[in-house]
Amino acid sequence: MALLLHLADFNEERWAAGFRAALPGTRVVLRGDDWDPDEIDYIFIWKPRREAFDGLNRLKAVLSLGAGVDALLQHPGLPADVPVVRFIDADLTQRMSDYVVANVTMHQRLFTRFRRDQAARRWVQLYPNACWETTVGIMGLGQLGLDAIRHLKVFGYKLRGWSRSPKAIEGVEVFTGPEQLEAFLSGTDILVNLLPLTPETRGILNYETVSRLRRGGLQGEGPVIINAGRGGHQREAELVRALEDGTLKAASLDVFETEPLPADSPLWGMDNVYFTPHIAAASSEITGVAFFSRAIRDFEAGLPWPNVVDRARGY
Ligand code: NDP
Ligand code: OXD
Repeated sequence: MALLLHLADFNEERWAAGFRAALPGTRVVLRGDDWDPDEIDYIFIWKPRREAFDGLNRLKAVLSLGAGVDALLQHPGLPADVPVVRFIDADLTQRMSDYVVANVTMHQRLFTRFRRDQAARRWVQLYPNACWETTVGIMGLGQLGLDAIRHLKVFGYKLRGWSRSPKAIEGVEVFTGPEQLEAFLSGTDILVNLLPLTPETRGILNYETVSRLRRGGLQGEGPVIINAGRGGHQREAELVRALEDGTLKAASLDVFETEPLPADSPLWGMDNVYFTPHIAAASSEITGVAFFSRAIRDFEAGLPWPNVVDRARGY
């Protein structure tokens, strides 16, 4: 049995060492090693290059290091009829919820505003609205969206969510599909995007969308967006316009149309943009190796794959 690692932005050697230890008897190879495409059973992959799947005609599964599989599904070389298994993990989920809670709290508590006041040496006792007076709208009610909601509930935020299919979630006002998007947005002070990137969701964070958000919340410091989904969800030029003309008061952005963010992007210089370089929720080597080694062992023993992506749906 042979496993090929094809990773960008992560330390391949360390992941390979983890897999070798967890799957004794499995040949674990890197792209630069000497291997024959016909011997490869599994590819463990993040950010596929153009040649990623060349010659891999005997794959039993494509294993995604990331929770998001948009780049894989868009890859012209992705073999048809091979299951794509994505990473769903308590550690990754917790990291994302940390990111969401930290950013929601930053905006709700007006830390952004007080930072500006400090810079201007201005003492203004503006009292933040309480959590129960602040509505957080979560786009995407999957693994990550639901966990973010679980964490935000503890603080008492007013919560609403938007998904493709209808759901009942205690304490959350749920909106469904494109028909209810406007109603969802119109009551939201802080919009959190945790959608997968699909043809339907591409560009969903645009001027029109953000102009539908509730105005005047957060003591006049709202509305705000937090995007930890994918850069392809945001139309950056339109967001820049909205951030400049006050349609949007601030944005926390972890993902970008082009990554790394190009040096000439206006987003770098905007003081109402809170930038992180796609680090909201990285996959851990420890839990990742444990999850995928177990999935491979189980599959080889005749059990089904967990978390198989629905290719037709796109997530
Ligand atoms: P899931 O597949 O578990 O959930 C996706 C949710 O989005 C579902 O609730 C789904 O609706 C909803 N959805 C999908 N398409 C639409 C649509 N057209 N309209 C409305 N709702 C829609 O995904 P995860 O929660 O695991 O992950 C979400 C995304 O987060 C990933 O795809 C990835 O892009 C991103 N991510 C970013 C990271 C980072 O570090 N920045 C780290 C990890 C993930 P329904 O429930 O009806 O199916
Ligand atoms: C993911 C990511 O999809 O880190 O897991 O972006």
